[in-house]
Amino acid sequence: MAKGKEETVFFCTECGYESKKWMGQCPSCRAWSTFSEEPVVKIRPAGAKGAASSGRAASDIRPVRMDDISLDAEERIQSGFEEFSRVLGGGIVPGSLILVGGDPGVGKSTLLLQTAAKVSAGGRSVIYISGEESLKQIKLRANRIGRISGDLRFISETDIDKIIAVLERERPDLCVIDSIQTMFTSDSQSVPGSVSQVRECSQRMMVCAKQNSIATFLVGHVTKEGTVAGPRVLEHIVDTVLYFESGDQFGYRVLRSAKNRFGSTNEIGVFEMSSEGLKEVQNPSEYLLEGRFKNATGAVVTCLIEGSRAMLMEVQGLVADTQYGMARRQANGMDYNRLVMLLAVLQKRAGVNIGQMDAYVNIAGGMKITQPSADLAVILAIMSSLRNVAVPEDTVVFGEVGLSGEVRSVPQAADRIREAERLGFGRVIMPAVNLKSMEKQKSIEVIGINFIGEMFGLL
Ligand code: TYD
Ligand code: MG
Repeated sequence: MAKGKEETVFFCTECGYESKKWMGQCPSCRAWSTFSEEPVVKIRPAGAKGAASSGRAASDIRPVRMDDISLDAEERIQSGFEEFSRVLGGGIVPGSLILVGGDPGVGKSTLLLQTAAKVSAGGRSVIYISGEESLKQIKLRANRIGRISGDLRFISETDIDKIIAVLERERPDLCVIDSIQTMFTSDSQSVPGSVSQVRECSQRMMVCAKQNSIATFLVGHVTKEGTVAGPRVLEHIVDTVLYFESGDQFGYRVLRSAKNRFGSTNEIGVFEMSSEGLKEVQNPSEYLLEGRFKNATGAVVTCLIEGSRAMLMEVQGLVADTQYGMARRQANGMDYNRLVMLLAVLQKRAGVNIGQMDAYVNIAGGMKITQPSADLAVILAIMSSLRNVAVPEDTVVFGEVGLSGEVRSVPQAADRIREAERLGFGRVIMPAVNLKSMEKQKSIEVIGINFIGEMFGLL
């Protein structure tokens, strides 16, 4: 490196992979054109204030026996949103660092401002730090979500070291950093939002959160341009990673957890954006089935387990004659390869000839299914569209389909039946193998099947 020229490294803004030279494709996450050049971070000597070290001398550090670690039942802070607390695994753990990622405009600031307001109304002290909005702009937003009571205070600042100094002085129970991409430390020469800045700032916030027992939310934008480091860069630093996603453009929002040191990652929380901020949707099944066409062909209701909850949603299938020689397949909300596999099973095992037909599957409401238990509903939706016969509207279908066309068992079948019953459905079609270990149902008709062909008689 030429004398006088500053030393630089390249980072993938998608996953944080570090390289000495520029690369077109990241070898770690396979993303293209995501490398950005940044000055090498000068690590401050250990023990310096704010650095990622406890600041103790080595002679003061003593290994501890397991029996001597006291577990004074750490009381979780209730977020005030049941949906939010469930995703967190039962509330906010004091001193934990939680990343909330999502596209710009999805409602991260709104969610956290409302949470901050609810936590402060519950008698805890909260500081909300915004690097994106002025205090006036925050007030405008706060006016929409209603009155703020309790000890909730605001700072508009982007220098992380000043922020940490304030937090150490004030010692709130909770703080929100909105967003981590706007924060910077003057110890690094990179611009705010770069991988090294985002990492360094998060590291410092981690130390601050743990040492002062301040539960900390970091807001992280997901960006497509690759100019700003995304939340994935931070996934290994923080305790919990949540993603806030929009199901459709104006309606509901789903909060998912991608990593959680204090709870399960399967839970989801459903919210609805209104003119007065976010509202919880405690009954997602009802919400997702709202506006459903009765007796439409190609529509089948299935039941999935999301975390501790059973959720009903509609699978839509459409089969049409191929226009351009090559049959098209499209899957919205489910895995494309799974759809192709199910179509092959249908063709080979049930003798349904759809090789020369276009097939589309859509999960209504913009939901995503990742569980094979929706297989049976996908197959029935395709068949219903192909034969142009509607599936009886009071029917719920679930079950996994194997390569021989056999219907395989699914977990928590009883919970699924209960949810169907609760919403007034009259019939469930499900794997026969699941029935063996279950009591006989009284108020809902349960049909167990072993092979996919057995349910076509219903059409
Ligand atoms: P915002 O929380 O600023 O999103 P993010 O922080 O993730 O970028 O808000 C997102 C959108 O929500 C914005 O377009 C305005 C809208 N909104 C409402 O519809 N109702 C409300 O009460 C508020 C506060 C915002
Ligand atoms: Mg925001």
